[in-house]
Amino acid sequence: MSRPYRPHRARAPVRGHGDAGVAGLVFGGMGTLDGRVVIITGAGRGIGREHALFMASEGAKVVVNDLGGNIDGSGSDVGPAQEVVDEIRAMGGEAIANTDSVTSWEGGQRMVNAAVEAFGDLHVLVNNAGILRDRVLVNMTEEEWDAVISVHLKGHFAPSRWAAAYWREKSKEINGPVNAAIVNTASGAMLGNPGQTNYTAAKAGIAAATLVMAQELSRYGVRANCLAPLARTRLTLQTPGLGDTVAPPEDPSEFDKFDPANISPLVAYLSTADCPFNGGVFHVGGNEVGLYGGWSLDGDQIIAADGRWTVEGLQSLAPRMLEGRGKLASITTHINDTFKGFGQRPPTV
Ligand SMILES: NC(=O)c1ccc[n+]([C@@H]2O[C@H](COP(=O)([O-])OP(=O)(O)OC[C@H]3O[C@@H](n4cnc5c(N)ncnc54)[C@H](O)[C@@H]3O)[C@@H](O)[C@H]2O)c1
Repeated sequence: MSRPYRPHRARAPVRGHGDAGVAGLVFGGMGTLDGRVVIITGAGRGIGREHALFMASEGAKVVVNDLGGNIDGSGSDVGPAQEVVDEIRAMGGEAIANTDSVTSWEGGQRMVNAAVEAFGDLHVLVNNAGILRDRVLVNMTEEEWDAVISVHLKGHFAPSRWAAAYWREKSKEINGPVNAAIVNTASGAMLGNPGQTNYTAAKAGIAAATLVMAQELSRYGVRANCLAPLARTRLTLQTPGLGDTVAPPEDPSEFDKFDPANISPLVAYLSTADCPFNGGVFHVGGNEVGLYGGWSLDGDQIIAADGRWTVEGLQSLAPRMLEGRGKLASITTHINDTFKGFGQRPPTV
């Protein structure tokens, strides 16, 4: 009989990062990612930083990419990427910094080249970099739309394109599968979050693009999966109404559901050489991991006409498809559902 799952505790705490960090990581010894070469975009802060520290502690050699800009994507600073690299090296791990923008076509290629030049190979690409420019549709500017679409959607495409090209060549060379992985970052906002037409469209696009990557790249032995995380970072702290929700618990001995470090074990798992998942879109946060069902077509609910439909025919028969549906006809779960019962489910047996 299986036992209730208990989260792995580090063998001997060596450090703590305060409430935004990963206490108790241990470097050295056997790790689940030993020898894996990993690029993580947007790894200078927030969730990406936690991925970098955690995956390095699991034995990965890490390219820490971060442009170091502001929440809205403006500005740049080499500091955040280099600081994470320094932290990893100080603890005996291996890492290099890359400060290219994920929106840059050449930057995507440079990241991949940097991994191969520094560490001799590439096994995992974690696309994580992100920005926000929230605005209701009626007020959104062209620039706000373009910036968010560019960082998220093109920012997933460009590094993935160059990593895929590298893996195709390697697969030809070794005449076999490369055992590599792409982990993308969507958001619960992909279900449709008011005030975020740009972000919702980009994140839904990332989830959909993951399914194409998963199908096209499997022939080379590359798996692609996607996360929809929930965590306390500067992005959620500045979102109206969310700051209080994601605050750390008053009692520091309580489990911190919104610690961004809670996301990283799933990313590491999806990055392991023998992980069975491909084309998964995961809800992840706190002590929870789940799979999204995604868009689906319910064949039982399709209505058919005798030839082409007429407007009158649709007026008469189409409303029956709304039966059992919520306010948004095609959405069976709302973004708020990701918070319902969050962190209160008993450990799975
Ligand atoms: N925090 C959450 O609850 C949450 C929820 C859903 C999705 N996400 C997604 O998780 C990812 C990480 O977000 P976070 O919350 O850690 O935010 P964050 O702002 O703390 O970190 C994002 C990092 O990406 C970097 N970045 C931005 N634009 C870049 C570019 N063009 N090139 C390279 N780096 C760039 C930033 O400098 C920053 O360090 C994002 O894709 C975000 O949309 C976060």
